[in-house]
Amino acid sequence: ESGKLWGGRFVGAVDPIMEKFNSSITYDQHLWEVDVQGSKAYSRGLEKAGLLTKTEMDQILQGLDKVAEEWAQGTFKLNPNDEDIHTANERRLKELIGETAGKLHTGRSRNDQVVTDLRLWMRQNCSTLSALLRELIRTMVDRAEAERDILFPGYTHLQRAQPIRWSHWILSHAVALTRDSERLLEVQKRIDVLPLGSGAIAGNPLGVDRELLRAELNFGAITLNSMDATSERDFVAEFLFWASLCMTHLSRMAEDLILYGTKEFNLVQLSDAYSTGSSLMPQKKNPDSLELIRSKAGRVFGRCAGLLMTLKGLPSTYNKDLQEDKEAVFEVSNTMSAVLQVATGVISTLQIHRENMARALSPDMLATDLAYYLVRKGMPFRQAHEASGKAVFMAETKGVALNQLSLQELQTISPLFSGDVSHVWDYGHSVEQYAALGGTARSSVDWQIGQVRALLGAQ
Ligand code: ARG
Repeated sequence: ESGKLWGGRFVGAVDPIMEKFNSSITYDQHLWEVDVQGSKAYSRGLEKAGLLTKTEMDQILQGLDKVAEEWAQGTFKLNPNDEDIHTANERRLKELIGETAGKLHTGRSRNDQVVTDLRLWMRQNCSTLSALLRELIRTMVDRAEAERDILFPGYTHLQRAQPIRWSHWILSHAVALTRDSERLLEVQKRIDVLPLGSGAIAGNPLGVDRELLRAELNFGAITLNSMDATSERDFVAEFLFWASLCMTHLSRMAEDLILYGTKEFNLVQLSDAYSTGSSLMPQKKNPDSLELIRSKAGRVFGRCAGLLMTLKGLPSTYNKDLQEDKEAVFEVSNTMSAVLQVATGVISTLQIHRENMARALSPDMLATDLAYYLVRKGMPFRQAHEASGKAVFMAETKGVALNQLSLQELQTISPLFSGDVSHVWDYGHSVEQYAALGGTARSSVDWQIGQVRALLGAQ
């Protein structure tokens, strides 16, 4: 006996290089627990279908519990013939309970088994990731709430644009992550579908009740077509895309913070807990946490693109190519878990330099408000934009700040300027104008906080 699950029709031995190449046990052993869980449910299904006696089922269930116990205690011994986790667990079950173990796989294929395992694993893992993501968003919203009266420069094209609330910046990233959180729920819904009972391709001929299996494993639904069920990995692709988009958002936030933390900007300072030093330059404090968040995006995108390429053009149903899905899932799950926790730590410990934030505002950032001032006096916006632009030019030419132009000078540009133009030069007044929902006024920032909190609560 070759010790393989498929040894019957083979006479020649497998080349050791091929053995290693084919094997997935080094990584799919992560699935030990869900593999046992799936097998226990399946043995119940077999008993209901009359394919196992109650005694045999109990023997198998106890054996499987013992297998799980060995894994949990780190005493499970792999042997060289354990091609994958399914082979390993069944081999061990047989050692523990004897020939009855051979009945467990009745009507089942590793094709429906592995994809059931993976869905079970991802279902659990996605709940963990979802909780970590929500924790990050909550941390950001708490911070936005506590610091909503702090103003700082908003940038477009990395050029100084308009004064905004610091909280508005935090929320801009939190809102993006809230979409990721919603998106993950959608992915979770599509993970939560049971393929077990599909066999290798054609289905189950022995009367196994898939509805019972679904209930045993607490899935939301069962897959509709056995050929599709054993070979589709849409839920993996969706998960990897979810992670890719979430990393896109986190990498952008990281980049902003890296920039704001330079001495040139000097608006924020990363805590020591999330920084590292230089082996050569004693003065350095580097934002490695943020750089790693930024860079991990590349790794995650690579896994997403890699899986899609693996799936593209595969002939119908299971092909060994699909074994490649698991490393992608495990790696991306680990990466996301680490990134989300580090991001939460970075945000909760970040120091902000309030005075520098205030100092970084300059009157030229109010040029838009100067145009709106004229609009409020009845001037069409296009003309007001032109007039404000002239004022900017005049100030630049004279070498003074925009708010240093005298009323007389402004009136040479437009007679609509009058004494109340002085109100324009107040940053607090500026941001409060942006009170339409979604803007940077205090009322709108409070509204955003409420909306994000409500979404988190509703999820
Ligand atoms: N280790 C395999 C995988 O991860 C299990 C399924 C093997 N099925 C097969 N027909 N060879 O995909």
